[in-house]
Amino acid sequence: MSSILSNVLPAPEDPVLSVIFACRDDPCPVKLNLIAGAYRTEEGKPLVLEVVRRAEQQLANDLSCDKGYLPIDGLADFNKLSAKLILGDDSHAMEDNRVVTIQCLSGTGSLRVGAEFLAKHHEQRVVFVPNPTWGNHPFIFTLAGLCVEYFRYYDPQTRGLDFEGMLEDLGAAPSGAIVVLQSCAHNPTGIDPTLEQWEKIRQIVRSKGLLPFFDNAYQRLVSIMKSNMPLFNLNFHGFATGNLDSDAQSVCMFVADGGECLIAQSFAKNMGLYGERIGALTIVCTSKDVARKVHSQVLLVVRPMYLSPPIHGASIVTAILKNSDMYKDWTIELKGMADRIISMRQQLYEAIQARGTPGDWSHIIKQIGMFSFTGLNEKQVRWLAKEYHIYMTYDGRISIASLSSKTVPQLADAIHAAVTRIA
Ligand SMILES: Cc1ncc(COP(=O)(O)O)c(C=O)c1O
Repeated sequence: MSSILSNVLPAPEDPVLSVIFACRDDPCPVKLNLIAGAYRTEEGKPLVLEVVRRAEQQLANDLSCDKGYLPIDGLADFNKLSAKLILGDDSHAMEDNRVVTIQCLSGTGSLRVGAEFLAKHHEQRVVFVPNPTWGNHPFIFTLAGLCVEYFRYYDPQTRGLDFEGMLEDLGAAPSGAIVVLQSCAHNPTGIDPTLEQWEKIRQIVRSKGLLPFFDNAYQRLVSIMKSNMPLFNLNFHGFATGNLDSDAQSVCMFVADGGECLIAQSFAKNMGLYGERIGALTIVCTSKDVARKVHSQVLLVVRPMYLSPPIHGASIVTAILKNSDMYKDWTIELKGMADRIISMRQQLYEAIQARGTPGDWSHIIKQIGMFSFTGLNEKQVRWLAKEYHIYMTYDGRISIASLSSKTVPQLADAIHAAVTRIA
């Protein structure tokens, strides 16, 4: 039979997908999947937060909840609460009605809608992303019709931030260029600028007339990790009234100066709602009038793409964010996840030290977030997969959140062998 589709060429090999498939197809019973940034329990199982279960029960029992279409821009309460979570309860930009927030398909969908909007309405086609960055950023922006360039971010010598290089590259960017900034827990390096460095970045972005697009995939998870305070001392309502949510501070610095920015938010990691695909795109404008126009155009981006977003994840997030008891319980569970990740970092570092593995491994405990950028090279990574059935991305990034006390020694043995045997 003749086939219209027979001319379709196979997609070029994607290094991330190929390692995912290799892991999936590996029959070894003790294989270790450290590829995806998805939280796992000590038993290696996915975790559904108790507070999410409660919210779902509440929704199931509420017979007034229906399954009708949401508006194009999603659930109004969800949008408001998401914007507040990042901008704070007392945001002047929100008070001035110059903030547009629309519910999107998690962080990825928020980035994609923002990219499509910019490709249609922003004259400058160039978007700068960190080198390295989350592997999907270049695809998202390129497919939207923008031209992706890189600014220096990671210095392999120091295993830290190449701050001078970053400022130099941003300073040389053409006026109006879009700059993708990860607001906290930079993926894949686990290295964030300090607040002082953020302020310098802000100054250069504003003085060069660049347009910041924040990718906020890990909000609250990291600030809770950094907070050593016992839970009863934590202010459960975030940075606006306390210092808990330092993750939002980078974004808020930019919003406080009255300039424009875009923010993609995800509830995948911080509420464990990976599969619900729930997130939000916020566009902070310079005036209410601009915001009204922007809102009308964003609706035109979404409508031909998927008409309107799904209701379930938005309803869960809304139930949790608007109820102070549930919000507090969310924070407690988040702290549990954060503590386990920190403990895995510490255990891995100690296990590598105990084996006398050559090199300085302190970056494992200095980095922040769900990942560690180990410093292993591609040859070592491929060897680990073949010999030890341990899988990570080829840049040597591992998901710390997928480790357990049981698997740490397995990984430390393997790292020791890779470093001592493979150059
Ligand atoms: C930096 C960054 N941005 C965005 C995302 C998108 O996540 P999601 O679409 O699941 O919300 C991820 C996921 O790993 C990420 O690491």
